[in-house]
Amino acid sequence: KAELGLKDFLHIDDFEKETILKILDRAKEVKALIKSGERTYLPFKGKTMAMIFAKPSMRTRVSFETGFHLLGGHALYLGPNDIQMGKREETRDVARVLCRYNDIIMARVFAHQDILDLAKYATVPVINGLTDFNHPCQIMADALTIIEHIGQLEGTKVVYVGDGNNIVHSWLLLASVIPFHFVCACPKGFEPDARTTKKAIKAGVGKIEIVNDVKEAVKGADVVYSDVWASMGQKDEAEYRRKAFQGFQVDEELMKIAGPKAYFMHCLPAERGVEVTDGVMEAPYSIVFPQAENRMHAQNAIMLHALGL
Ligand code: CP
Ligand code: NVA
Repeated sequence: KAELGLKDFLHIDDFEKETILKILDRAKEVKALIKSGERTYLPFKGKTMAMIFAKPSMRTRVSFETGFHLLGGHALYLGPNDIQMGKREETRDVARVLCRYNDIIMARVFAHQDILDLAKYATVPVINGLTDFNHPCQIMADALTIIEHIGQLEGTKVVYVGDGNNIVHSWLLLASVIPFHFVCACPKGFEPDARTTKKAIKAGVGKIEIVNDVKEAVKGADVVYSDVWASMGQKDEAEYRRKAFQGFQVDEELMKIAGPKAYFMHCLPAERGVEVTDGVMEAPYSIVFPQAENRMHAQNAIMLHALGL
């Protein structure tokens, strides 16, 4: 792949700071072009993308499919019942078949090993559309949104409140490439993966804190960020998690403690009244919808980079 100028997009820290910033700049450029109504920039013309979904999705599916189409390509949606990767057919076989039809593969899977296997066996770029471990496309869109609203990501304080999950792992990996202050405030026992945290701290780039005191954590935040307490694949734990996460809801009171400059972000889908109140979701400081929109623009730039375009 590398010899052909093709790159997978699996983890943010697979790339240097300069590359990440270059992709984000490209996202801004292509976003402006698309928003202007320009429809003659068609770098993906004649190209097809296979999109594998082992889990449900709105944003990832629609933003990838629409974005690829707007830039001239054709995307195929393969839902949980179509391929049944690992069940009907082994991941390495799926990879070697799909890359013979398609120029690029995007996949949303459970086990992180599945995305690694797809990337290993496919001769075309593989883009990570969320695994149990991480969600790099989301965090690229979040970075773009922060740059648009605050001017830059470097030096900002981002406070994630909730479960130390896949979203947190991608934030940690971004903070190991770009210098900003990342705080994960979570209940005891719901911290992010210790190895990933250690790796990010060892990189010595961003300031990283994993804490349990949420009120102390949000003080002076530029961004307060939330996600569901029970991720896809954990829905049967929802009840137990609701109890364990008492005190970790982002409400108007917590946003007041954060201070007047704090924006609220959420990768969505949100469970209003659970991890975030309706009032916070609808407040003027909530930028969750521009954030969702940026999924498409960030991913277009990621795909351009992956295809060497
Ligand atoms: N944020 C996100 O990935 O949303 P979907 O699950 O709807 O794709
Ligand atoms: N942590 C959530 C993110 C959804 C976009 C999940 O994995 O379900």
